Amino acid sequence: MVNRADIGVIGGSGFYSLLDDATEIEISTPYGPPSDVVTVGRIGSRSVAFVPRHGRDHRFPPHRIPYRANLWALRSLGVRQVLAPSAVGSLRAEIGPGALVVPDQLVDRTSGRVQTYYDEGGVVHVAFADPYCPVGRSAAVTVAGASGWEVSDGGTLVVIEGPRFSTRAESRWFGANGWSIVGMTAFPEAVLARELALCYTSVSLVTDHDAGVEAGEGVTHEEVLAFFGTNVARMRSLIVDVVAALPDERSCPCGSALDGLKLPFELPG
Ligand code: ADE
Repeated sequence: MVNRADIGVIGGSGFYSLLDDATEIEISTPYGPPSDVVTVGRIGSRSVAFVPRHGRDHRFPPHRIPYRANLWALRSLGVRQVLAPSAVGSLRAEIGPGALVVPDQLVDRTSGRVQTYYDEGGVVHVAFADPYCPVGRSAAVTVAGASGWEVSDGGTLVVIEGPRFSTRAESRWFGANGWSIVGMTAFPEAVLARELALCYTSVSLVTDHDAGVEAGEGVTHEEVLAFFGTNVARMRSLIVDVVAALPDERSCPCGSALDGLKLPFELPG
């Protein structure tokens, strides 16, 4: 039985399982339970923990996901590198449904979500200029390109509060700012990963053109789920290949994110 893992995968909409032969682990954290039981298994020589971000029955909307518990649970199993597949809308005409974006920047347009572990017991400011792991990004871009995905290396992911989609004016404004894709879950997930000194890589599957790009009625949740559903097997196999391509030893700055900072508690795992 495997109950430790070095790589974590947080599955997005429609992506509710990763490993066939896996051990289910119920984990409790100081922040309550994660979105669902965590499954731990092997991909080649690597042990991997998987948590479905919205729960296996998709019961958590983006603003209610237990983000802190999910990342804490993964770290407590030993995870240090996290892959985060998700469904996103495109803000650019040239990036269409089915494309993959591995963003290098993030804009937070959420409101009212708890976004830190360090809200009492001391002051901790983590650097977040570059929110994503450069090594994880590079692995994802290389593997996706080699498996025939149309992949954008870089781009800005704007995270909205949801659960509603953007108005056409909001969407046009996001695009006019030069941002590439829009989603609802990458924040605070990315910053919480940084606060635990984890590597975090977003692997974003474009499911639709957002309202500012297409002339129609705008996107619906059914469309997003249906599109993701038809691509989930392909996405799963991509994630399996990216896991295998991640290095055993970390050489990126993510693991030193907390060096020199006075933490009010010990990190798990
Ligand atoms: N997830 C998938 N498509 C989206 C969109 N257009 N806006 C926000 N989140 C999304």
